[in-house]
Amino acid sequence: MEMLSIFYSWLFPTILILSVSCLFIYTLCPTNSPHPPSPQKLPIIGNLHQLQGKSRHKTLWKLSQKHGPVMLLHFGSKPFLVISSSSMAKEVLKTHDHLLCTRPIFQGTKRLTYNYLDIAFSPHDDHWREMRKVLVSEFLGPKRAKLFSHVTKMEISDMIQSLSLHPSNTAVNLDNKFLALTNAIIGKVAFGKSYREEPFKGASLKEMIDEAMVMLGDSFGDNFPIFGWILDEIGGRNRRIEVCFNNIDDYIQRILNEHIDNIAEETNDSEKDFVHALLELRSNKNTCDGSQLTKDDMKALILDVFLGGIDSTVVTMVWAMSEIVKNSRVMQKLQAEIRRCVGTKPELDGSDITKMTYLKMVLKETLRLHPPAPLLIPHECISHCQIGGYDVFPGTGVFINAWAIAREPDTWGLNPTEFYPERFETLEVDYVAKHFEMVPFGGGRRTCPGYNSALGTIEFTLANLLYWFDWEVPDGVKNENLNMEEDGSLVVRKKTPLCLVPIKKYWQDLK
Ligand code: HEM
Repeated sequence: MEMLSIFYSWLFPTILILSVSCLFIYTLCPTNSPHPPSPQKLPIIGNLHQLQGKSRHKTLWKLSQKHGPVMLLHFGSKPFLVISSSSMAKEVLKTHDHLLCTRPIFQGTKRLTYNYLDIAFSPHDDHWREMRKVLVSEFLGPKRAKLFSHVTKMEISDMIQSLSLHPSNTAVNLDNKFLALTNAIIGKVAFGKSYREEPFKGASLKEMIDEAMVMLGDSFGDNFPIFGWILDEIGGRNRRIEVCFNNIDDYIQRILNEHIDNIAEETNDSEKDFVHALLELRSNKNTCDGSQLTKDDMKALILDVFLGGIDSTVVTMVWAMSEIVKNSRVMQKLQAEIRRCVGTKPELDGSDITKMTYLKMVLKETLRLHPPAPLLIPHECISHCQIGGYDVFPGTGVFINAWAIAREPDTWGLNPTEFYPERFETLEVDYVAKHFEMVPFGGGRRTCPGYNSALGTIEFTLANLLYWFDWEVPDGVKNENLNMEEDGSLVVRKKTPLCLVPIKKYWQDLK
């Protein structure tokens, strides 16, 4: 009897020690085929130590140089596949797109998207399909194209006017100008007016967007489901998510309230914006599957427009102007094209832009070198498949490193980091590519639905800025020495604000 009780008192600790040892040995051993290659991981934290405090897309790119274009990493207990070549991106975004097109669940995204009612972060299901259709038909489609073009023209004309009145030889903060411009365009088409002057609860628009981008990333709780939530609680992340959600929710609620009041006053058709369209769909039970949009569905859609539409467009404009100014040769060639296409007309119009082939190459080169979301939005595997001959199992997250793919020497030659728009004269590469040589807008079912609209706004803005002004870096700094450091993780922006001196050119002088 005594022997038996001694045996039992040793049994539990022995099993515990054996299990922990096995786990330790297993995690230190390189994984066997057909699992993808994996950098050596540590017990419990997996590969997180290799990523902490560093720029994630660059670190993953460096690891891929050693371990290959398909790697398996562990963020705590969560497995993530990392894709770093165009051929592997094609397997994920085309061949097996149907099996890899859902999204991982993160605490921050769950809260900010009204429990996954949005498009960008929600799982691949019927609700996502329905919401995407509503966004495309009511905001991005032909119904709103005329309004988009009218509002864009007006807002850019205002911006050019205000730049013309800027004291000579002083720098303008173009980050602020582009944010104000994009917010005004999207705000007017989506919400009927720009709400930027009226920050709510003390947070400015920029602060709200920046904070949301941080909160949409993964947290301790996501990577360590058993105990991570305690760290999020103690570290204050859960509180930050709540504050961020409340700020955004108040902002969106105010937009909705004003529209509900307007409907009561009977808005005429020409004044109707995206939010009016959503309210009509809600009252008519008019979505394609006949279901009714809930209030939270509408809020989540407004969030997609607000977060998806504004930030990445602004970030791209900033990178484009930075590269153009840094590369004087490109700036001069581009200005010559723009000024030749427009001639001496008093203003640019859309038909001028279609003739500007070099402008399109410059923008493509910008999005190749600076994809605003360098790892896209993470995908997740729904069902077992093989990528590059390796097994991928359900629940595995997938990062597609657009930044690394756009630097592959096989496609981009020996100087892939050089800003050289002329490379597109001979390379037939497009944004939503057949061969996935560059994927700044993702691909497959999850391709960015707003890319055409964003490109149109950016092209028109750049053409105007370069038609009306020459640009210089202030304080005697040479243009080629412009600081190009990056900052951020989900969205990677220029670290320091882009401040440039506009030098007015009068169109009458341009003959
Ligand atoms: C230069 C500007 C833009 C860039 C670089 C960009 C980039 C991206 C990327 C990389 C994705 C993820 C694709 C994937 O996971 O495979 C995405 C998704 C998305 N974007 Fe954009 N985007 C831009 C502008 C816009 C605009 C103007 C809108 C308009 C509202 C928009 C709305 C969305 C939405 C709703 C999604 C989620 C799609 C889904 O998951 O089904 N984006 N975008």
